[in-house]
Amino acid sequence: MSGRHDHPHEEHQPRQDGRSHPQATVGPGGWQSAVDSGTSGPHGRPGEVSGPHGADGQSGPRAVSGGPSGPDPAQPRGGQQQSPPAVHDLSSAQLLQQVKRPPQSGWRRAIYVASGRTINPGESEADVQRRELIARINQSLHGCYKIAMLSLKGGVGKTTTTTTLGSTFASLRGDRVIAVDANPDRGTLSQKIPLETTATVRHLLRDASRIRKYSDIRSYTSQGPSRLEILASEQDPAVSEAYSEDDYRRTVDLLEHFYNIVLTDCGTGLMHSAMKGVLDNADSLVIVSSGSIDGARSASATLDWLDAHGYRELVGRSVAVINSVRPRAGKVDLDRVGAHFAARCRAVCRIPFDEHLEEGAEIDLDRLGAPARLAALELAATVADEFPHAVSRSGAR
Ligand SMILES: Nc1ncnc2c1ncn2[C@@H]1O[C@H](COP(=O)(O)OP(=O)(O)OP(=O)(O)O)[C@@H](O)[C@H]1O
Ligand SMILES: [Mg+2]
Repeated sequence: MSGRHDHPHEEHQPRQDGRSHPQATVGPGGWQSAVDSGTSGPHGRPGEVSGPHGADGQSGPRAVSGGPSGPDPAQPRGGQQQSPPAVHDLSSAQLLQQVKRPPQSGWRRAIYVASGRTINPGESEADVQRRELIARINQSLHGCYKIAMLSLKGGVGKTTTTTTLGSTFASLRGDRVIAVDANPDRGTLSQKIPLETTATVRHLLRDASRIRKYSDIRSYTSQGPSRLEILASEQDPAVSEAYSEDDYRRTVDLLEHFYNIVLTDCGTGLMHSAMKGVLDNADSLVIVSSGSIDGARSASATLDWLDAHGYRELVGRSVAVINSVRPRAGKVDLDRVGAHFAARCRAVCRIPFDEHLEEGAEIDLDRLGAPARLAALELAATVADEFPHAVSRSGAR
């Protein structure tokens, strides 16, 4: 893994929402993340009382005044005991009425809107699930988290999944997300969002010494409606063959100054020139498999290869994705395929067949069907569950 940078050129400080980092979370895998003590960090909220004293500022039974040693000088003379109002009394939680969250979808939403927002039936289970997924997706992140998207087999949906995952992060998080095309042969990542530039990674590397600010790098990327940016690969196969491990490392060294999440859409196969750089730099992998038997075998072989080449720990942090590139699974038992990957990876997610994804053109999250949209949220939340662990790994480096 490369060392993390202090981001000397960074003009943008991501995550300026005042959230404290990292929060106490227990992911679905039962991992306990690092915990900030409630009020010790820079974001400790004034007015929050912690420690042995209760909310009323008392630590035990009150001292009885007027005992043998005379009246307590701290008490107002001759009157009732009056404790000064605690700062806590003015905390937002005390002063704001608890408002039921408005529903986001379905008949509940219809009633809420039709009644001019006077009747609030509350959130549905789906709303709550969505809100919780979004909270997981927004877990705080220090530095730059690098995700490599790979599979041994072609056409299983790496590029589609890269764009869907990256767009989901970009649309919901406040920070910057970029997807890099590391395909050795004419990658299609740049076809998944409207192109703003014909510049490629090759141009960026050529001009690397001139990149100082985010606006400098932005002229080499295209940005989709979700805010996901894409750095295209060289489209001339003869040239792109020369995209080496060192080129990839230089690319990531540049990107990590300006982006919080870097997804790399790897080419098919593990032997191409940039792959060692991709794997050595990755915080986690997303291994994409189709729902077919040959697809699952290839994905499993990918894991074998990674295990055998010193990336066992990385595999343990990885998420397997079973992507349905066909409308029906046929006779393949996807639960068993999932169980196979669950034994080897941190988590398994499924992306259903989706008519908009099938088009193979630009991806617009708003055009995804509800199941694929939910799947994208679940995948992003699952990947984000590892974010707090990247902090401890970078601390250990
Ligand atoms: N979830 C899905 N639902 C429907 N169709 C899909 C889905 N995922 C992928 N596809 C279809 O599969 C095609 C291939 O997907 P994609 O280009 O993402 O695969 P890939 O693994 O990147 O391929 P390559 O190895 O050539 O880079 C897409 O153009 C699209 O038509
Ligand atoms: Mg591809």
